[in-house]
Amino acid sequence: MLTRIAPSILSADFARLADAIAQVESVADLLHLDVMDGQFVPNITIGPFIVEAVRKVTTLPLDVHMMIVEPDRYLSDFRRAGADMMSVHVEACPHLERTIDQIHQLGALAGVAINPATPVEVLTDIIGEVDYVLVMSVNPGFGGQAFWPRAIDKIGRVKTLRGAKDRPLIEVDGGINQQTGAQVRAAGADILVAGSFVFGSEDPTARIKILRGNEEP
Ligand code: DX5
Ligand code: ZN
Repeated sequence: MLTRIAPSILSADFARLADAIAQVESVADLLHLDVMDGQFVPNITIGPFIVEAVRKVTTLPLDVHMMIVEPDRYLSDFRRAGADMMSVHVEACPHLERTIDQIHQLGALAGVAINPATPVEVLTDIIGEVDYVLVMSVNPGFGGQAFWPRAIDKIGRVKTLRGAKDRPLIEVDGGINQQTGAQVRAAGADILVAGSFVFGSEDPTARIKILRGNEEP
């Protein structure tokens, strides 16, 4: 299956967000939006208001990564704002099955994200109900961190857990660049999230092509 590339707008210039999105519109597969609350992670980023503004300037599916406590309280707001896919952290959801069901009731794809220290096997009883698993390859909270190599092994373990099926999709987020992107593709990742590698460049389109494995831009 072709790898999908999801640029993370966290590393874009927020004063020129529409321009940044326009640069990747025709080459990206999804747009990744990082929601942080200053509690689950030590940083505060965007809310539904920004998602709604982004929705107006792109036709790309919006992949909303919720790094917040009690995400259930905000799912409908983000869906209304234009989220097509929403991932919640297993570490933030005591009733994960209910949360996943709620995302589906809202008509969005449901993902479950796991921090580096969380074993993949915690997903054993929910894997059949989610559309994608988000393997964090950094501790969430900030763009531009170094890739955590054990994430490669975790991708393999998610594949083992899903058995012969090719669903849920496997998304990897954090520290993705040319080298680590090739490693996670080889390990079987379906969706690569990249912030600083894409938007930290003068030529985001070329960077996206590199992440797909086309070394010639
Ligand atoms: C980190 C976020 C990532 C971030 C990735 O907490 O979830 O999506 O934007 O940024 P890079 O690609 O720079 O590591
Ligand atoms: Zn993210």
